[in-house]
Amino acid sequence: MGEWNAETAEWYVSHYGDYATNRLGLKNLNIEAGSTVVDVGCGTGCALRHVSNQVVSGTLMGVDPVPRMVEIAREQTVNHVAADRITFHEGTAESLPVSDAAADIVLAFESFDHWKDQAQGLKEVRRVLTANGRFIVVKDGGLPNGSNAKQAFKAALEKAGFAIAEEKNITEGEVNCTRWVCVLNV
Ligand SMILES: C[S@@+](CC[C@H](N)C(=O)[O-])C[C@H]1O[C@@H](n2cnc3c(N)ncnc32)[C@H](O)[C@@H]1O
Repeated sequence: MGEWNAETAEWYVSHYGDYATNRLGLKNLNIEAGSTVVDVGCGTGCALRHVSNQVVSGTLMGVDPVPRMVEIAREQTVNHVAADRITFHEGTAESLPVSDAAADIVLAFESFDHWKDQAQGLKEVRRVLTANGRFIVVKDGGLPNGSNAKQAFKAALEKAGFAIAEEKNITEGEVNCTRWVCVLNV
């Protein structure tokens, strides 16, 4: 996918808006009920609507650079039971509209590979996470073991000061993804 804009947003929403990785990536994470969760590259906000089942009293923020995507996320959430706790904001991974140390959980579901400057994005994720926070990355299809892509991904996390606490392959039907749970390496 090249440039994200209103047209690609509409295409994505009609094909993958509720894609299963949004739900599978949250399995067995034991996120505390009052957590603050930030979803970077939130798309339709699908993952936040799922996470609201676990985070029953916390604050959920979606960030996406495409104004039309943010509009769609709001449209799809307005009648949701947790609508009063879910907000959407225009912004990029590279410059998150989030205060320092405000997030217990940062999600990047099918989003990390779309960031323009991943090192800067990771620096921002580090800035907004609390000291015990978790950064959850999900990639559809995962990354082949021993591949340059996997090595580069892990090296980027390490360079940015993250440790990988869990790497898990999750499969349901024909959907297969890998989830990395990253913590701050102080
Ligand atoms: C493949 S979609 C994934 C959307 C959603 N997370 C999901 O899994 O359904 C990638 C998303 O990343 C967003 N994106 C593109 N560039 C970005 C950036 N620099 N920072 C944050 N998000 C970005 C796109 O607008 C798009 O919504």
